[in-house]
Amino acid sequence: MKISHIKIKGFRNLQPLELKIDKEKSVFAFVGANGHGKTNLLEAIYLCALSKSFRTRTNMDLIGFEEDFCALECSVDREDAKIVEVIVIREPAQKVLKINGVKKSASDFIGVLKAVFFSPDDLSEMAFAPRLRRRYLDVLLSQLNHEYLDKLMRYQEAIKNRNALLKKIREKTANKDELDFWDNQIVDFGLYITQKRADLIVQLQTLLKDLYKSISQTEDVLEIHYQSNIGDIEDEQDLLLKITENIDRDIAGGSTQLGPHRDDLQFLINGHDMVYFASRGEWRSLVLALKFAEIKLIEDKTGERPVLLLDDVFSELDEVRQKYLFKAILGTQTFITTTHKEFLDGLKVEKQVYEVKDGEIK
Ligand SMILES: Nc1ncnc2c1ncn2[C@@H]1O[C@H](COP(=O)(O)OP(=O)(O)OP(=O)(O)O)[C@@H](O)[C@H]1O
Ligand SMILES: [Mg+2]
Repeated sequence: MKISHIKIKGFRNLQPLELKIDKEKSVFAFVGANGHGKTNLLEAIYLCALSKSFRTRTNMDLIGFEEDFCALECSVDREDAKIVEVIVIREPAQKVLKINGVKKSASDFIGVLKAVFFSPDDLSEMAFAPRLRRRYLDVLLSQLNHEYLDKLMRYQEAIKNRNALLKKIREKTANKDELDFWDNQIVDFGLYITQKRADLIVQLQTLLKDLYKSISQTEDVLEIHYQSNIGDIEDEQDLLLKITENIDRDIAGGSTQLGPHRDDLQFLINGHDMVYFASRGEWRSLVLALKFAEIKLIEDKTGERPVLLLDDVFSELDEVRQKYLFKAILGTQTFITTTHKEFLDGLKVEKQVYEVKDGEIK
């Protein structure tokens, strides 16, 4: 899959921009000093793929300080040539997603442009935050399967509503039996999400093991374990029972304890949990392996190779891993940012280099 055209207006610090992407080249590098807009550019492309940012949950943050709205557009080079658009408006606050000019829901929008994003921040985040390990699964599954994203969003909504209700019950302004509706939704969507995540882990297992060996250039054995928060559940009835058994604890805490929103992933190297024992270099290898597994699975399952967004990765990768990266991205349309042009020297492909300065891309 390739992007053929990018249009950006009113987005963060970026000047209005139209980039025609040269089909003959596969690497597009954006070079500039700190704070000039490199990551913003990748963020704009990411939004066109996934409808959300990788660094904020607040849509309004995306609009330039002096602007009333921002509009992002990517043309995707595929048979049914598609244009994806994201528009965020300040007043009245809203985000609009469009494909070929027609408004779409997030679950219909995601997946037209497929993208995999890799930044050094992934390293520390993966190591320390279960939320980001879950996000890895969710971002991947959402690009593979519309139904997953749809159910995930409805699940999250149900959790939010149930938690609000739990607090009201605690304050004695609502009744316990009002929980039934949300409990049933949590059971339905929760079981589906758990099942899909478990299936994905099985597919990732061998893929990651092989990737890890070739990236780290060791014989170390990487394993990934899914730590499902609901444990061994037989069926809907079983889960519903567990949830109702826990009700008093939920009410006291004002939040839902049981469900895939509390899932985690565990990574082991030669049987040892990486969270406690892995070095930074081992985390780097893992994150690279996860990203390449993501690309491979998306390609295998959809027949389309996602575009790759690499944000300032050179600062975090040693020479061995940089070489691996350069080899692995051959044939993938790659947008890459860096503060120093020299970092790109090892990349022996036709590349287009842009300069990023004060939000302007030349
Ligand atoms: N909504 C916004 N409106 C205007 N400017 C913004 C907005 N959001 C962020 N910025 C500014 O955009 C600038 C560029 O940010 P960006 O993260 O793209 O920099 P960068 O080139 O990736 O820098 P680094 O090399 O440090 O990663 C920052 O100075 C930031 O303050
Ligand atoms: Mg940056």
